[in-house]
Amino acid sequence: MSMISKQAKTLTGIKPTGTPHLGNYVGAIRPAIEESRRDDIKSYYFLADYHTIIGVWDPELLQDSTRQVAATWLALGLDTDRSTFYRQSDIPEIPELCWMLNCMAAKGLMNRAHAYKASMDANVAEGNDPDKGVTMGLFSYPVLMAADILMFNANRVPVGRDQVQHIEMARDIASRFNHIYKGEHFVMPEAVVGENSAVLSGLDGRKMSKSYGNVIPLFCPEKKFRKYIMKVVTNSLEPGEPKDPENCSLFQIFSAFAKDETEIAAKRKQYEDGAGWGVLKQELFEYLNEELKGPREEYDRLIADPAFIEAELKKGASKAREESVPFLQQLREAVGFRSLA
Ligand code: TRP
Repeated sequence: MSMISKQAKTLTGIKPTGTPHLGNYVGAIRPAIEESRRDDIKSYYFLADYHTIIGVWDPELLQDSTRQVAATWLALGLDTDRSTFYRQSDIPEIPELCWMLNCMAAKGLMNRAHAYKASMDANVAEGNDPDKGVTMGLFSYPVLMAADILMFNANRVPVGRDQVQHIEMARDIASRFNHIYKGEHFVMPEAVVGENSAVLSGLDGRKMSKSYGNVIPLFCPEKKFRKYIMKVVTNSLEPGEPKDPENCSLFQIFSAFAKDETEIAAKRKQYEDGAGWGVLKQELFEYLNEELKGPREEYDRLIADPAFIEAELKKGASKAREESVPFLQQLREAVGFRSLA
């Protein structure tokens, strides 16, 4: 903790694609909200909707996901006075900066970006044109991400492991800009990978992910939530037979929510003593429900009040623009977009 400097600025983007699940909560949302309460860090969290339209071309779906993701963060207690919580598309300075950065970013560097490469590899494997279905949006995804980060000169960027490459690209683009336009315009951002976040497994034991369809939604009616927990795959061991907690999704989910090591040790003992799966599932449900039922009520209240959510996002956007407008002006000067008189 003490290693973080007074001026630390944390920034992270969340793509509004679908309904947040337990894995999003323990992996990203919960650590971010904890961090937003610290006095030594200035935090920025935004809904990355410019990124989302690279893959989502359904306006209702985008609007709906935006509402759900914003309501989730607010319901879980994000303090929007301490941190800056905004929607990327409310900050027009970002695409303008993105263009400047596009003019710095080497195409050869972007060729190596993993999302683009994965699409190309899949096309080649299927005998198609390598660029089939690849838009310029997908190709320049890392440049837009660099603009998000550099716009606020964030130095800490919490991300999943798959995003580390993009942060390195942001550094590369930023140093090119600094070099060409002779000045320390941008600070170099660092990726922060999962310091105190957990990766959860889902219903089938694989990593909980929307792309595997194995997720447990964070907020759904209590009965439905219980049903999800009951569906988590276990093995055929009977009550009375000792069970191995280590490779058990139920145990792993419990551990991610447990308050301390003592609770985890007590749960482990239950497994070793042969508790039945029915009991273990029911207890997990009750434990999670206890933590989530307050936020769930708040979430339902917020979903029914989109004007409130909109106002929160607009408040965040105006805070963000207090920085982005003057900073972009400086950058415009730096590149030579200058008044002639
Ligand atoms: N690419 C990130 C993801 O898929 C989301 C994102 C967009 C982001 N812009 C960002 C994360 C800037 C960190 C900083 O998860």
